[in-house]
Amino acid sequence: MRIVFIGPPGAGKGTQCKRLAKLLHAAHLSTGDMLRSVDRHSDLGRRIAGYIDDGGFAPDELIMEIVTARLAEIDYNKSCLFDGFPRTLRQAEMFDEILASQNSQIDLVINLEVDRDELVSRLLDRAKVEHRLDDNLSAISTRLQIYSTVTVPLLAYYGEKGIVKTIDATASADIVFERVKACVLGHSGDRPR
Ligand code: AP5
Ligand code: MG
Repeated sequence: MRIVFIGPPGAGKGTQCKRLAKLLHAAHLSTGDMLRSVDRHSDLGRRIAGYIDDGGFAPDELIMEIVTARLAEIDYNKSCLFDGFPRTLRQAEMFDEILASQNSQIDLVINLEVDRDELVSRLLDRAKVEHRLDDNLSAISTRLQIYSTVTVPLLAYYGEKGIVKTIDATASADIVFERVKACVLGHSGDRPR
């Protein structure tokens, strides 16, 4: 199964993907983690910092380059979870083309919904422990704004394909995970091994 997780910053994409990857023995591809893992002292790392630290977006071309490289390493017999990718219509269209060329497709899109106050509170709490450079009020506000204007339209794009399931992700991570599992196991008959 190929599952895309969509949700605003702080919705729990990473939290839920980690749990589900373990359960399904699936690959977990997070473009945010991939961008943050690039050495900040390299030319590419400096460029990435310029794009993302204030809450802006990395260009589609850069994202597609790193995703394509990572996809080449993935075992296609395994399920794969896409966390924070695609998040522009252009990325979604290019991703569909790549998958089609491999006789593959996105099977399910899980849309995590959380209200703004809860998102801000989660991200500011995380800032105290993890010190992510984009977890401050100004960057969070930019990230939320970009999410609603650039990423939310993907829900209509995938909605037309009939593959979107929306989850209320305001509850505890455990409860949300039960909801995620119900979507995934109900959708595919895929069973944890
Ligand atoms: P990315 O790293 O993907 O950040 P994001 O989308 O802003 O989301 P987060 O990682 O902050 O939140 P999450 O939904 O994963 O929630 P999490 O589980 O961590 O991207 C970072 C940047 O990279 C982007 O802004 C952009 O610049 C760039 N980028 C990445 N992909 C891109 C792309 N495709 N195109 C262009 N640019 C791209 O949870 C958050 C916190 O809440 C944690 O502390 C967690 O413990 C807690 N929490 C989780 N679930 C719950 C719960 N149910 N109850 C209470 N607390 C919870
Ligand atoms: Mg994340």
